[in-house]
This record gives sequence, C-alpha cells and structure tokens, in this order.
Amino acid sequence: DQIVAFHGERQAGIVTEAQDRLHFASFDVITDSREALVDMLKKWTVAADRMTRGEETVPGGATEMGEYHPPADTGEALGLSPAHLTITIGFGPGLFGPSASDPNRKDRFGIADRKPAALADLPAFAQEKIEASRSYGDICIQACADDPQVAVHAVRNLARIGVGVVSVRWSQLGFGRTSSTTRSQETPRNMFGFKDGTANVRAEDTGTLDKWVWVAPEDNPPAAQWMTGGTYLVARRIRMDIEPWDRANLKEQENIVGRTKGSGAPLSGDDEFDDPDFNITSYGAPIIPLTSHVRLAHPDTNNGVQLLRRGYNFTDGSDGFGHLDAGLFFIAFNRDTFKQFVPIQHQLSRKDAMTEYLIPNGSAMFAVPPGVKPGEYWGQALF
Ligand code: HEM
Repeated sequence: DQIVAFHGERQAGIVTEAQDRLHFASFDVITDSREALVDMLKKWTVAADRMTRGEETVPGGATEMGEYHPPADTGEALGLSPAHLTITIGFGPGLFGPSASDPNRKDRFGIADRKPAALADLPAFAQEKIEASRSYGDICIQACADDPQVAVHAVRNLARIGVGVVSVRWSQLGFGRTSSTTRSQETPRNMFGFKDGTANVRAEDTGTLDKWVWVAPEDNPPAAQWMTGGTYLVARRIRMDIEPWDRANLKEQENIVGRTKGSGAPLSGDDEFDDPDFNITSYGAPIIPLTSHVRLAHPDTNNGVQLLRRGYNFTDGSDGFGHLDAGLFFIAFNRDTFKQFVPIQHQLSRKDAMTEYLIPNGSAMFAVPPGVKPGEYWGQALF
C-alpha cells in the first residue's frame, strides 16, 4: 500500500527506510501570534497525516470545493500512490528567540524557557562558505517519498496552508538517497560515485539509536522534556567540486574516501561490510590514509561517537560558469549535535582530504520532537 504510518512513538522519516526523493523546506515564522502559529500546526498535522495516506489535504480539496473557490489542495498528487511519503517537522533556535537568522528576535511565543540546551546555531567550521539565504530557519519540513511529485506536493501544500504564518526561507530538492537506514537496503552512491551509507546506523540497531539518536529524559531539565524521544536534525548543503574530482586519479579518489570505488570495501579489506582496519600498513604507510574521510569520521577516531545519516544527492542545474551545481544535501540525526556532529565536523574540516573538493554553503539545525499520537498536533507538548 506504500503507506508509512504518520502516528507513532517517533516521527516517521528518521529511521524509516530511506526513500529515494526529498523536498526539504525551512520556514521563517512571520507572525507574533502564538494562537496563529498553533492553529497552523494543527492544520499542518491533519494535512500531513492525510497526505501520508495518499489523500488530499482536506476531503475533496482538489476538485470538490465549488467552482468559485481556489481548490484547497493543489491537485498534482491526485491519482499518485502515497509513495512511502513521510513528513517530519523540526523547530529551529529562532522559534525561541535570538538566533543566527535574526539576532534581535524576541521570545514571541513565550517558549524561551523551553528551549533545549542542545538547540543552538552551529558554530563556524573551517573551509565553509555559508550563505544565509540557504541556511537557518524557525521550522523545517522534511518530506521524503519515492515519487518526487508526492514530496513536492506535500511541501507546497503545507506552505500554502501556512500563508501569513510562515514563509519559505529556503528549500532543497534531493534526487537519490545517500544512505541506507535499514539492513535490507542496498547501499546507494553519492555524486562522487562512491557507495555512501555502508557504515550508517540502521533502524535495527535499537541500542545504538537509544545511545546516539533519541533524546533521553536525563538530557533536559523539566521545561524541555517535550524533546524526550525526539532527536536533532543537522542539515548541510555541501556543494561538490565535481569537475576537479572527475580529473583525480581513481587511486587518489579511493585514498580520499578510504574505500574502493567498485565494491565500497575499506582499503584494508575485500568486502563492503568488512570492518576497516586502520592499523594495516604498506611500506610503513597506513593503507587507509590518515587524511581519509572514513578514518576521520569513524567512531574509533571520535571517542565512539555515531550519527544517523539520511542525506540526498542534489543537482540544481549549473552555476553560470559551466560547472555543475551538484553535491550532497547532508542530513544527520543525533542526540546532541554539540557532542556528536560538531566535533566530527571540526575534525573533518581540518584534516579530511575530501574537504578540498567540498564547499558547504548551507547549514541549519532543528529540534525534531517525538512522534504524535492520533488527535495530537505537531509540537503540542511544546506549546
Ligand atoms: C562515511 C562520503 C560528508 C560523516 C562516508 C563514506 C562516504 C562518505 C563515501 C563511506 C561509506 C559509508 O560508510 O557511508 C561523504 C561525502 C560527503 C560526506 C561525499 C560530503 C559531500 C560527511 C559529513 C559527515 C560525515 C559532513 C559528518 C560530519 C560520515 C560518517 C561515516 C561516513 C560518520 C561513517 C564512517 C565509518 O564509521 O566508517 N562518507 N561524506 N560525512 N561519513 Fe561521510
């Protein structure tokens, strides 16, 4: 039936088997009215639940609301399957007060004391060129589906319902998953042509998820307990320098990643799922180079820290200079971004040989609350 349950203990779209397409949108909240915001979140929740089941945002919304009304549903998903649509919401630091997108922001909704300590703007990293118009935001919607039109329809209709309350700050389409989130999925490839997601955390690894992805009661004071069972989403638009990469020798590419291009096996092994052995040397040099991405991102090099990666490939045409504007829209979920993503990213920015071919130009951070039960609305425990 291609339906992923909307309700549950967790929001869908995190450990859900990664779908093939993404439409991610970040919104600024443009009202000061708490009532208007809550009202929109209620309408969003109903519409998201319906769209997840392949229905219009409201019954008869596309064609049966009368000839003299604009249809409530835009209609482009009529007749399409639900395509495993998941719609996941997150709240950015700006919802609670000052943030990178607006340092003078007031606590418009009276929720400043409910902001979890782990929800803050990311620090600056070396070798990035962050553009404010592709970064930050008060609310994010991550729509994933196996049909791009279904994902786009979801974001478009939520944006429409939110008119006057939110405005789209930036959005990103993704066309191919760059991770596996269940054991049954085959590993896909990123725009460098390498298998991506081999060593990812999977839905089946429940112990690892509890340790590294889901927020636990002890992580927050009473005022921020609404986040218990949730997680933090890090989004990074990482442009890839495709043309220089394509001129690099195969051996150089493999040394940068630390894995072979064909099978995805670590340079120290034969099979994709062999554990990398960072101690093996050849003529005195480590077979998996000290500057390789896999070595520097691996838990062994990061005090055991892990992330759930769930990113997508993107190509937004070309850049006006004849270069492909392509890359990886990196999405990761973690229990505390400042103890997990941030230290790994600092290490990669300073030492990873891949950095030479990467230009991160979008950056955002959101608190993703736990799942909703039937009758509840998104963020109910926060407001
Ligand atoms: C692993 C590519 C950005 C964290 C990998 C692998 C590839 C890859 C090919 C090996 C296969 C796998 O285990 O998935 C890329 C590319 C990136 C990128 C092309 C940017 C465009 C990042 C960022 C982070 C990150 C920003 C986190 C800050 C990891 C981690 C692993 C990994 C944790 C698994 C390491 C292990 O346990 O072996 N990446 N990556 N990657 N990457 Fe990335």
